[in-house]
Amino acid sequence: MSYLMPTYARQPVNFVRGESSYLYDEQNRAYLDALTGIAVCGLGHCHPAITKAMQEQAETLVHTSNLFGIPWQEKAGELLCQAAGMEKVFFGNSGAEANECAIKLARLFAHKKGLTHPKIIVMQHAFHGRTLATVSATANPKAREGFYTLDDDFIRVPFNDVVAVEALASDKDVCAILVEPIQGEGGLHSPDAGYLKALEQLCHDNDWLFMLDEVQTGNGRTGKYFAYQHTDVRPDVLTTAKGLGNGFPVGACMVAGKATKLFGVGSHGSTYGGTPFGSRVVCAVYETLTPQVLQNAHDKGAAIRQAVQNRYADKGVTLRGVGMMIGIVLPENMDCSGIVAHALNQYRLILNVTGGNVIRLLPALNLSDADTDELITRLSALLDDVFAGEVGA
Ligand SMILES: Cc1ncc(COP(=O)(O)O)c(C=O)c1O
Repeated sequence: MSYLMPTYARQPVNFVRGESSYLYDEQNRAYLDALTGIAVCGLGHCHPAITKAMQEQAETLVHTSNLFGIPWQEKAGELLCQAAGMEKVFFGNSGAEANECAIKLARLFAHKKGLTHPKIIVMQHAFHGRTLATVSATANPKAREGFYTLDDDFIRVPFNDVVAVEALASDKDVCAILVEPIQGEGGLHSPDAGYLKALEQLCHDNDWLFMLDEVQTGNGRTGKYFAYQHTDVRPDVLTTAKGLGNGFPVGACMVAGKATKLFGVGSHGSTYGGTPFGSRVVCAVYETLTPQVLQNAHDKGAAIRQAVQNRYADKGVTLRGVGMMIGIVLPENMDCSGIVAHALNQYRLILNVTGGNVIRLLPALNLSDADTDELITRLSALLDDVFAGEVGA
């Protein structure tokens, strides 16, 4: 009997140790982790530089509250804003909290303009978190069901559809767009080139906030610090979490331009946001996330994608994603329900399936040459089984 609320469908394995791209179970069996805790441990498990920073800070000072100055928070803010090309940051503890902060900023922006019923444009297949506001912004019906989501406060349009957003230009209640540059949970959808630019332009023309959710795509995941840096847009609000702490829970909401002066003293807060401990971790992550690591994420992601493409394109497989955000799209009629367990049990390979038929890989950004080869070997064996019909439901 477990005392835990039954909110998760868990695989029957307990990991007790992690090192680089491998996790070890209770029998000390090694599993190649191509998921990194859902895009969290981007630098691999227990990276020595992050562990050292944690150890030092745990022995020095963990928490003081935001009633006092926190030099490590200042430093983390500087490193993050410089990498992200943003002006100011608010630190929280998760992706959902970062997006809550963004939603509050948008509503405050609306309030200052005198709007009485502000609405934020969000996308079909979007995922923004599980708090009440962020689950309302999320599209997934399973996540929303029964929660009396705040449906009057969001307008949902198809992703990658500029015309649908243009059609809302006459709606005086709209105050912002919230969008993922690449939809992660929704099936690794990348929009067409020019989509984000068009949204940015619409935000500019209509005085809306242009808000990017980079909780999953940020912190080097796509081979740039932030995915939007593959384009020439500039967000007003940028949220992130996941890889930001390499496993330590921390989130951030950054602002630039017209979003910079919205919050003042007392507008927002968090007991745990930006503790000395969490901030020190962010600093260690950003000191370790060098341009070489970003280049590695780009190169290894391309190599994995190419290997799958070469071998399985003639079986109807297509590839999605950028850098170390890799989606392997299987033919639509395929039963994918047994793939995760088969990969785990037969090949000790950790991955997941999203959007019904998309195998999702989110490997470490610093994946070594040897581990890249190993990943391709195990993945190919898995896909061979899938196409031989040897993967049960
Ligand atoms: C794009 C995006 N936004 C927000 C979240 C929510 O983050 P968290 O689970 O840290 O609250 C996620 C989590 O998967 C995400 O992928």
